[in-house]
Amino acid sequence: MKKIYLPLLAAALAAFSACSKKPAELVFSVGGAPNEIEVWERIIKRFSEEKGVPASLLRQPTDSDQRRQGLLVPLKSEKANPDVFLADIAWIGQFAASGWLEDLAPYAAKDGTDLKPFWPKVVDFADRYNGQLSALPAYVDAGLLYYRTDLLNKYGFKAPPATWPELLSVSLKIQAGEKKANPDFFGFVWQGAQYEGLVCDFLEFASSGEKAIAFSDGVVKLDTPENIRALTFMRDTIAKNRISPPNTYTEMKEEEVRTFFQEGKAAFERNWPYAWGLHQQADSPVKGKVGIAPMPRFPGGTSVSTLGGWHIAVSRFSDDKAGAWELVKYITSPAVQKELALELGWNPGRMDVYSDKEVLKAYPHFAHLEKIFANAYPRPNIPYYTQVSSILQRHLNSALSGASEPGAALKAAESEMNEAAARYR
Ligand code: GLC
Repeated sequence: MKKIYLPLLAAALAAFSACSKKPAELVFSVGGAPNEIEVWERIIKRFSEEKGVPASLLRQPTDSDQRRQGLLVPLKSEKANPDVFLADIAWIGQFAASGWLEDLAPYAAKDGTDLKPFWPKVVDFADRYNGQLSALPAYVDAGLLYYRTDLLNKYGFKAPPATWPELLSVSLKIQAGEKKANPDFFGFVWQGAQYEGLVCDFLEFASSGEKAIAFSDGVVKLDTPENIRALTFMRDTIAKNRISPPNTYTEMKEEEVRTFFQEGKAAFERNWPYAWGLHQQADSPVKGKVGIAPMPRFPGGTSVSTLGGWHIAVSRFSDDKAGAWELVKYITSPAVQKELALELGWNPGRMDVYSDKEVLKAYPHFAHLEKIFANAYPRPNIPYYTQVSSILQRHLNSALSGASEPGAALKAAESEMNEAAARYR
């Protein structure tokens, strides 16, 4: 029930609020963890005061698919609300191809906004569409392996695991010891629920870079030995090797995984950079006991961090595009980007903030994250990505649950994805 009705509810709420925009008010739509929303509330309030532009926040859920769903209704019906929103790098392409995003290039050119500080690789890949500038990165994401430094020490491991088989053996050892006092303890938590996050994790397990979901002339190849190995390993972390909790494939999304690890119930966690700041909060049981490492790989494969992130875009149907551009500039300004980094541990969309002394003092790991970002692997940037992703999510999740075999699941996903792709050719 949850799967069917939550998106509908989110969409209905967005449609409702689409009718309730006050005159001359800028609406910014954003989702995320509760602490992130608090920071956004503050930033929007300050923007209104400083710029004299009345603005309010339209709150969305955390899940990327639900956030997209909530935006589809107002955009498809060309509503002026929201004016500005954060869009996942995974679906900017679709929104741009649908003609829903205002081209920001003329605004930037008109007031001389320097676009050079924004990650060029990210902007070129995600934000440029048909010669237009569809959005600008508010923050960039890349998958990371979080680990408990104290537990690695306690069990005699000198470094975090570099390969998936090592992660399995280290998890089994730590878990066997820790379960004695803490029966709810597991070796490794990751995002296995049926949603966009599962695709991100799959790319990392595959450890084959862009080859994992490679479209060539609109045809995808998915049923490969590397992908079968990855999906088998993923499935086996749950029912066979039991290093990951049984609810991995039913419930585990970013926040479920983050809180599980933060409560001290796991040795390893796959998550995005935002989890770092929360793990280090004063009341966090794992404060001071967490390290970050690149994602493990299979021997002979590459360490892959999926490129994620959220970009700020202006709706083409906004009735205050000049005000909306002011908000885009404000959120992507060095000062606000620095604030978001310091408050939330987010990785700025602009590179100049990474060398800021205060930022580096608070987050020394930013220095080596820059390298992880430079090498992060994107999901395919095609206008029908969300359609093929939802097919893939369903089949990956079915294999995780044991309802289908990894090889059969990937074969079925491949053929359905190709049928979907053919409809767009
Ligand atoms: C994060 C990433 C986003 C990704 C999502 C999946 O929010 O930034 O790109 O699609 O997680 O759950």
